[in-house]
Amino acid sequence: MKNVVIVGTQWGDEGKGKITDFLAGKADVVVRFQGGNNAGHTITFDGEKYALHLIPSGIFRQEAMNILANGMVINPEALIEELTMLENNGITNYNLSISDRAHVLLPYHAQLDQLYEDLKSNDKKVGTTKKGIGPAYMDKVSRIGIRMAEFIDDTTFYDKLQDNLVYYNKLFVLYGYPTYDLKTVFDEYKKYAQEIKQFVTDTTLLLHKYNKEGKKIVYEGAQGNLLCIEHGTYPYVTSSSPTAASVPLNTGISPQFITDVVGITKAYSTRVGAGYFATEFENKAAKYIRKVGHEFGTTTGRPRRIGWIDTVVLRHSKRISGINHLSVMLLDVLTGVKELKICTAYKLDDKEIDYIPANIKDYKKCKPVYETLKGWEEDITKVSSFSDLPVEAQTYLTRISELTNIPISIFSVGPDRTQTIIMKKIL
Ligand code: GDP
Ligand code: IMO
Ligand code: MG
Repeated sequence: MKNVVIVGTQWGDEGKGKITDFLAGKADVVVRFQGGNNAGHTITFDGEKYALHLIPSGIFRQEAMNILANGMVINPEALIEELTMLENNGITNYNLSISDRAHVLLPYHAQLDQLYEDLKSNDKKVGTTKKGIGPAYMDKVSRIGIRMAEFIDDTTFYDKLQDNLVYYNKLFVLYGYPTYDLKTVFDEYKKYAQEIKQFVTDTTLLLHKYNKEGKKIVYEGAQGNLLCIEHGTYPYVTSSSPTAASVPLNTGISPQFITDVVGITKAYSTRVGAGYFATEFENKAAKYIRKVGHEFGTTTGRPRRIGWIDTVVLRHSKRISGINHLSVMLLDVLTGVKELKICTAYKLDDKEIDYIPANIKDYKKCKPVYETLKGWEEDITKVSSFSDLPVEAQTYLTRISELTNIPISIFSVGPDRTQTIIMKKIL
């Protein structure tokens, strides 16, 4: 039995999709446990590039079972679009299950997301993906959300949709936003429910059965630990917890089942959306990294903000997720950058600290303390081992491992599945 959790250690887009797909080659089951189609996970193999938003990145492995667990918020229209995209690319041979406890994201959630952002003054806007993620989780905790089990039952779906639209349409009228017609939404979404019904089941029971059978399970996090609703840079976060601690709650497995936690990190940092980003810089090197790393959002197309790697952030992630493997991604993007900075601590009011202050006002005052390492010029996209790397790249990886006290089990030198170097076996 193996239960391996994959988490983003930064602010998302670290390359979780690539590593999930890679490990899925050895896994029996792949599970997405939180978030929704705010995520954009890129997988590249055999000259093709795929972007997944809801479906687990194990979907390209015919043998693997792919599960959308109870902690997710699922937009049925987006899910069907994604299944159609796969079908159009000849991917039809797969196994998929959706939790009957997962919540359904409906069109008014996206409009509420827009409304709540519009109501905030400029410096308070989160810069969400506008997919309706926050409002769908708000419905869940307000106990007015619609679960998959209810969605595929026409009468319950109609009844709950009616109540919610009475409530939200009043709010939309108040702020001058378009309202939703009950029959139109119901008729459209009833069709989606019919299509999805075949996949809906109690996935917690499935996961316990698989564990009993000694299967290898990979849990694919979305977003990153710094976007966690509990431990992230609140309020500039998402509305779920992308940590390893979130897996038991959001899938129904026992915490003792978790065997390994793989922290995915870029060789530098990026962030989309608002919020303080201590190591952010915008100069020629940042522009170069954005261009070479194609640092534009998979979901929204927004340019990603660029920063140096921040080991305060990585140690914070390690504390809250229990990371025992590090996977360093996009190392190739740093080729040609003359000097590489690594943030080793923050300076807050002349005191050196090794934590992220809870009050964002204090966090904004934190200045990074840097160590500077020499870069390398050689093309590393074809290396197949650590010793193939230029000595400067080896030193860079070793220093990250030392400063986080986590072994580097994987490093990645290009987007393709084959450009993945394993230093320590995980599965
Ligand atoms: P995720 O959300 O964590 O799955 O990451 P995204 O897919 O949103 O963003 C990661 C981007 O980096 C994608 O475009 C990947 O194809 C790409 N990528 C992943 N690993 C590497 C790598 O080692 N080198 C390069 N150049 N690109 C990579
Ligand atoms: P993956 O899984 C990067 C960011 C948004 C915004 C904040 C809240 O691809 O790594 P939300 O729509 O979730 O309410 O937005 O979180 N965000 C992401 N940033 N990668 C993601 O997912 C993200 N999902 C949400 O930009 O700052
Ligand atoms: Mg992404």
